[in-house]
Amino acid sequence: MAALSSTVSYTELMPAKLFCARSLGIRRRSDVPFSVFCSQPSGLPVLTCSEAIGRLEAKRKSWNGKQRYLAMYSSVFGGIVTDPAAMLLPLDDHMVHRGHGVFDTAAILDGYLYELDQHLDRILRSASMAKIPAPFDRETVKGILVQTVAVSKCRKGSLRYWLSAGPGDFQLSPSGCQEPALYAVVIQDESPFDSRGIKVVTSSIPIKPPQFATMKSVNYLPNALSKMEAEENAAYAAIWLDAEGFVAEGPNMNVAFVTGENELLMPRFDKILSGCTAKRVLSLAEKLLHEGKLKGIRMGDVTVEEGKLAQEMMLIGSGILIKAVIQWDDQVIGDGKEGPIARSLLEAVIKDMKSGPSSVRIPIPY
Ligand SMILES: Cc1ncc(COP(=O)(O)O)c(C=O)c1O
Repeated sequence: MAALSSTVSYTELMPAKLFCARSLGIRRRSDVPFSVFCSQPSGLPVLTCSEAIGRLEAKRKSWNGKQRYLAMYSSVFGGIVTDPAAMLLPLDDHMVHRGHGVFDTAAILDGYLYELDQHLDRILRSASMAKIPAPFDRETVKGILVQTVAVSKCRKGSLRYWLSAGPGDFQLSPSGCQEPALYAVVIQDESPFDSRGIKVVTSSIPIKPPQFATMKSVNYLPNALSKMEAEENAAYAAIWLDAEGFVAEGPNMNVAFVTGENELLMPRFDKILSGCTAKRVLSLAEKLLHEGKLKGIRMGDVTVEEGKLAQEMMLIGSGILIKAVIQWDDQVIGDGKEGPIARSLLEAVIKDMKSGPSSVRIPIPY
């Protein structure tokens, strides 16, 4: 293989070729015509493992991501790494090449994990629906997750974790997967909470059928396309309707309304993901009921008309907590401002995260 040296600077190359060369991570020798250079597979460097890791480290340093990854656990490594360049997954993992994996999250705040048990129950349910055997028992998985967060020293951010059919081969059947895998990553997030009211649009991307919408698998292409559709329309999220036209959910959040009768109304979880935050909100809302701020709390079918004419609309999820929706398509919701119920529920969730009972807060043993 010809050795490539950097005797010609990138600025001498045509922009498209420049992209080609850069994206391949290779440098051009001055006496090799570009057409030969670009089409010649032999021009690619063959890297040792440590060279590849070195390049990954350099690449990561050049990326200006907003999030910092503090620690990763992999059952394939059988341990925890803290260098993002080592936070890798095997390419032959069934989750990577066939989408055969499930995932979940938990927020980290003030040195506590919020609703980890509730999210763990859900990932184990999702894994069972996806026919992924658990690599460890529940308490071991929980212990691994808590230890990974402890190693990360993260006090504010999120924990994300995956259960996968595991690595083995590139077949469609998982029968060649050696053993199921657990991966987890701790992401620091110091960004201030933004409670401004947002706009949503109706999604034109089809909703997943109930069998897949009720499990949190890694197949989030419809969700990502739906989020992109929202962004293309200067909106925060696109709202899915179910097969019968009732309001369903957002791409990574649930939806709730305050009706004209002052009831908190949420779509049922039988065709959508049962949100851990939404469920917690339903029980925290009881206080507002007792204080007379709400007249009722109900789960049921919500028509688009009912939703658009609601006094308040909100998005609920562990990433966003509660966001008031002030416009849906062309319809202004309520008076076009964050409503009092959305505000009270947000305060209740934040209080729960900071000082809620031990059933929702696990201290991290740093
Ligand atoms: C499709 C979907 N719906 C709802 C939610 C909200 O769930 P949670 O409150 O557990 O984050 C999520 C978030 O993961 C989601 O991806």
